[in-house]
Amino acid sequence: MTSTSPRPLQVLGWRPWLATTVTTLVLTATTILAVGCVPRFPAPRVEVAGTDEQVARGQYLATHVTICITCHSVRDWSFYGGPTTPGTEGLGGPTHPDFFRLPADVVLPSPNITQEGVGSWTDGELIRAISGGLRADGAALFPAHPYFQLRRMPREDLEAIVAYLRTLEPGSVALPTRDLVYALARDIGNTLPLPPQPKKAVPKPGSVESGAYLAEVGNCKWCHTPTDTMGWPILGQEFQGGAGFLVPAPGGGRVFSSNLTPHPTGLGSWTREVFIARFKNATPEAIRSSTVQEGAFNSPMNWAAYSGMTEQDLGAIYDYLSTLRPRNNPVTPWVPGEGGSALLSD
Ligand code: HEC
Ligand code: HEC
Repeated sequence: MTSTSPRPLQVLGWRPWLATTVTTLVLTATTILAVGCVPRFPAPRVEVAGTDEQVARGQYLATHVTICITCHSVRDWSFYGGPTTPGTEGLGGPTHPDFFRLPADVVLPSPNITQEGVGSWTDGELIRAISGGLRADGAALFPAHPYFQLRRMPREDLEAIVAYLRTLEPGSVALPTRDLVYALARDIGNTLPLPPQPKKAVPKPGSVESGAYLAEVGNCKWCHTPTDTMGWPILGQEFQGGAGFLVPAPGGGRVFSSNLTPHPTGLGSWTREVFIARFKNATPEAIRSSTVQEGAFNSPMNWAAYSGMTEQDLGAIYDYLSTLRPRNNPVTPWVPGEGGSALLSD
């Protein structure tokens, strides 16, 4: 081979590749904008009976597992894990966007989900919003509301949650106006909702499958999986921890989620009993017995809410996490310093 023989890659260089990529992106963006593309799919026709059993199951899920109430209520960051302020359940949450890992200038409150907010929505429209991401008027919700995680929730559990929402005491708290800031973010957000694909039945309580289900709908996976620069969970790194969150005032700095895989840098040395006790001991009373000092460590994980999960469900989550591939990922839990972002309600 002589020095003048063609070396295709170098001859082509990176420019044509870049041009192709840019062209593809522009075409895709134009198509999205042109179609104006909020996906449409019908709300299921269903009337939720609202039996005592459904309300009880819905309350359990919404408060302690799927933590609807954590996001859709006022949280008190002067206590560890930001427990819900009693009396504000479902009235809406002026939650700081960094919890959703969005740019700091995005304003995205969690709306009022009592009858005062969604009283005119049908049961089917609520089910479609919760698990599919479309509001009653057909507008898209931003996936900070976890409709991707709730997409496969069986109808039975969704109906139970709706039954519970209907019993919430109406009222209101001051919420900022939603502002996604960038037109592009809005347009991309509008293309995201997908029709739900409900599982046929709720997995058998206590089973590993149940643990997988609870870790998904309970948002454990979302917070304990690192995200890329676009905010999407990185495939193949599920549950390995290391996702960063600004600690809201009065705390400060940045806190990182723990590695939940069965590796020594994760839950490798935790027994099932230790895992369950870690949750059961974080009762609202215990959490409220000491306050977070200025600039100190705090966590976005609402331990007080999760402490109400049953030992059977916590055990199932542990059993499921134990089946994951161990991942060597030592996580620095907390970096003090900047952070301490003021809540939008302040
Ligand atoms: C991580 C926080 C979070 C969790 C958990 C969460 N939501 Fe949401 N929810 C939001 C946010 C933020 C919005 C608003 C999104 C937007 O404006 O695009 C929202 C929107 C909604 C809406 C639409 C209301 C409206 O007026 O537009 C309903 C209904 C709702 N959530 C119900 C629930 C239920 C029920 C659960 C539990 C199964 C739940 N949410 C869990 C954050 C959350
Ligand atoms: C809003 C984000 C968020 C959610 C939701 C969340 N976590 Fe966490 N989790 C964290 C962060 C951040 C930490 C590290 C700070 C701390 O210990 O609270 C953590 C810590 C932990 C720890 C280690 C505690 C210790 O003592 O070292 C365990 C175990 C855990 N989470 C399990 C879970 C499980 C199981 C779920 C779902 C039921 C869950 N987490 C949901 C963010 C979250």
